[in-house]
Amino acid sequence: AVAPDLAGRHVVVSAGGTREPLDPVRFLGNRSSGKQGYALARTAAARGARVTLIAANTGMPDPAGVDVVSVGTAVQLREAVLKAAADADAVVMAAAVADFRPAAYAAGKIKKKDDRDPDPITLVRNPDILAEISTERARPGQVIVGFAAETDDVLANGRTKLERKGCDLLVVNEVGERKTFGSEENEAVVLGADGSETPVPYGPKEALAETVWDLVARRLE
Ligand code: C5P
Repeated sequence: AVAPDLAGRHVVVSAGGTREPLDPVRFLGNRSSGKQGYALARTAAARGARVTLIAANTGMPDPAGVDVVSVGTAVQLREAVLKAAADADAVVMAAAVADFRPAAYAAGKIKKKDDRDPDPITLVRNPDILAEISTERARPGQVIVGFAAETDDVLANGRTKLERKGCDLLVVNEVGERKTFGSEENEAVVLGADGSETPVPYGPKEALAETVWDLVARRLE
């Protein structure tokens, strides 16, 4: 049996990856499967929390005992996160949110025109949800966790990102084969705004999720 150390707590987890539509049949997306976010939702529920899972394009069945809100785009994800975060003790942003979206949405399918170069796609910036909820805390003492996938200088880039976003914890993943995107396993270092560094060895996404909740629970005490 697991210790119900999150009993009476409301936690919000975002999972999956946003899709930014270009036209009715195309989108800009990313490789996030949602598995890490679902592992976070399941483990939090097992530890007694009330869980709101905000799922972006995961195609996975709803975990038992979890409230699931389905979203598509970054703008929709933001709305859902802000709403759920209002009375949350902790928010974990595991979703891969598109930094940019197409400036225009074509109501009809974009056609290819023979003998002509394609039109360029103009992008505009999406809101940074993690930075926003970290700066404008919905409640004092709310614990906010971000994720970062890095390919090089993982720790230095992670530390800079943690400070820029203003969150309490940042889970830094090294992107690589058999790790992170779509995989069942992960390996990470959890950086704390207090200067702490918690390495999590290569293993199932559940194990990383449990470590995140250990660190969150300690900060909620
Ligand atoms: O800046 P970067 O995309 O690497 O940061 C990743 C973290 O920030 C993740 O926790 C992700 O959910 C969050 N994020 C966000 N809004 C964005 C981009 C990323 O909340 N527009």
